[in-house]
Amino acid sequence: MIENLWSAYEAAAATGGALCARGGDPKSWTAEEWNAGGISIDTRSLKPGDIFVALRDARDGHEFLKNAFDAGAAAALVSRAPEDAPEGAPLLVVGDTLDGLRDLAKAARTRNFGKRIGVTGSAGKTSTKEILRAVLGSDGEVHAADKSFNNHWGVPLTLARLPMRADYGVFEIGMNHLGEITPLTKLVRPHAAIVTTVAAAHLEFFKSVEEIAEAKAEIFSGLAPGGVAVLPFDNEFFPLLKKRAEEAGAASFVSFGEKDGADFQLLDYKPEGAGATLKAKIKGEVQSFFAGVPGRHQALNILAALAAADAVGCPLGPAIHALARIAPAEGRGARSRIALEGGEATLIDESYNANPASMAAAIGLLGASEPPSGGRRIAVLGEMLELGPDGPALHRGLAEALVAAKVDRVYAAGQLMRHLWDVLPDAMRGLYADDAVGLVGPVLDAVAPGDIIMVKGSNASKVSAVARALKQSGGKEENKESRA
Ligand SMILES: Nc1ncnc2c1ncn2[C@@H]1O[C@H](COP(=O)(O)OP(=O)(O)O)[C@@H](O)[C@H]1O
Ligand SMILES: [Mg+2]
Repeated sequence: MIENLWSAYEAAAATGGALCARGGDPKSWTAEEWNAGGISIDTRSLKPGDIFVALRDARDGHEFLKNAFDAGAAAALVSRAPEDAPEGAPLLVVGDTLDGLRDLAKAARTRNFGKRIGVTGSAGKTSTKEILRAVLGSDGEVHAADKSFNNHWGVPLTLARLPMRADYGVFEIGMNHLGEITPLTKLVRPHAAIVTTVAAAHLEFFKSVEEIAEAKAEIFSGLAPGGVAVLPFDNEFFPLLKKRAEEAGAASFVSFGEKDGADFQLLDYKPEGAGATLKAKIKGEVQSFFAGVPGRHQALNILAALAAADAVGCPLGPAIHALARIAPAEGRGARSRIALEGGEATLIDESYNANPASMAAAIGLLGASEPPSGGRRIAVLGEMLELGPDGPALHRGLAEALVAAKVDRVYAAGQLMRHLWDVLPDAMRGLYADDAVGLVGPVLDAVAPGDIIMVKGSNASKVSAVARALKQSGGKEENKESRA
């Protein structure tokens, strides 16, 4: 059944806005009679029947009203009716459109009786959200954003899109500064809140990693009554996170990790095909199962997701079963086979963003992947940005992990990667370039049958260009269902 998400009256009641139309036939009641099937803030991705929310961000959404109605918008949420608003087009006028979107979000939450899970952390938010989509999907209808919608408009947009009858909602909540998570988690009011990990990321906006832990812990301030805190047991800030969750009134705690004492404990991890076999102690019982995403870090995301699913009443048997069918999201560990003359190489595409935690995880993933005889482990690395004054040291520090992972060749790009390059053993040096584009040709030339190439770097480093070029040169996706 296709449900209408918002009728004109429901949206007006939720926002306290006025239903009207600019000009048009006064006898026409369409301004008050629309039904919308979705919500959009971008006319380029707006679907017919959506409410268009004219947000003021980089540009003023009010400039795009005509595009929105040309694309089939059912109505527009606006704070004024510009001259060029199409005649008769239904408008819902509010004082501030971001407030209006938040009001829709709150009403969507109030009228839904499902369970909500909030996910934050320095890395793994989107991966965990996608794992939860699969896990909770084994028990009911799940609502989650298709993208990494985790900021001041992404979270309200995702919540405002929550269908009335969804059984579960999953919300990624991110931040660059102290205090940003609090209003978002208070909007979502999660029944379970996960902190995937705390690590150096966006350090230029923080005094210390401890301050990052404090910022992540804000997620607990929005927990619904009876809410459960899901905590990374192995993290050095576990005690701090737990204390903050207690202070915020969490009704209970559940932890995940590799160390003894974790409630959801990873006992063993073995890469297998495009995924891995995990052995875990779950609620006192040892279980082995296959999951379609590779990497020890993803195994921990899986345990976090299972802990949260269990906390909100999702049965674990079918949930674990569903893990076999998941696939890495784009740029987060997806494998492709690259056809070459005389054989095949393997690309591990980790090019969706990087910070020291996800970089270490990606290098670990390369280390855990065994090339066939004659093949090499090749790391193609773009710089990690937004690290502040610690940037050079955090780049130099990667040398140790690369040696431990038995990486044969490193291709590196960007000023900060120079600091790594300078301390790399000679034998590991492939090429350094100021710009990732400069690596494309040399990497394509260097790749030989049997090689495993892992590509990783901050989005702005553009190192994903190397992954793209490899795929175009003869790539075949191994895991097709991957989502962005
Ligand atoms: N728990 C984790 N610890 C470290 N790195 C991780 C973890 N989970 C995912 N990653 C890696 O971090 C990068 C970003 O993953 P993603 O799930 O998009 O995180 P986020 O949404 O928090 O930015 C990917 O390369 C992914 O493989
Ligand atoms: Mg994300």
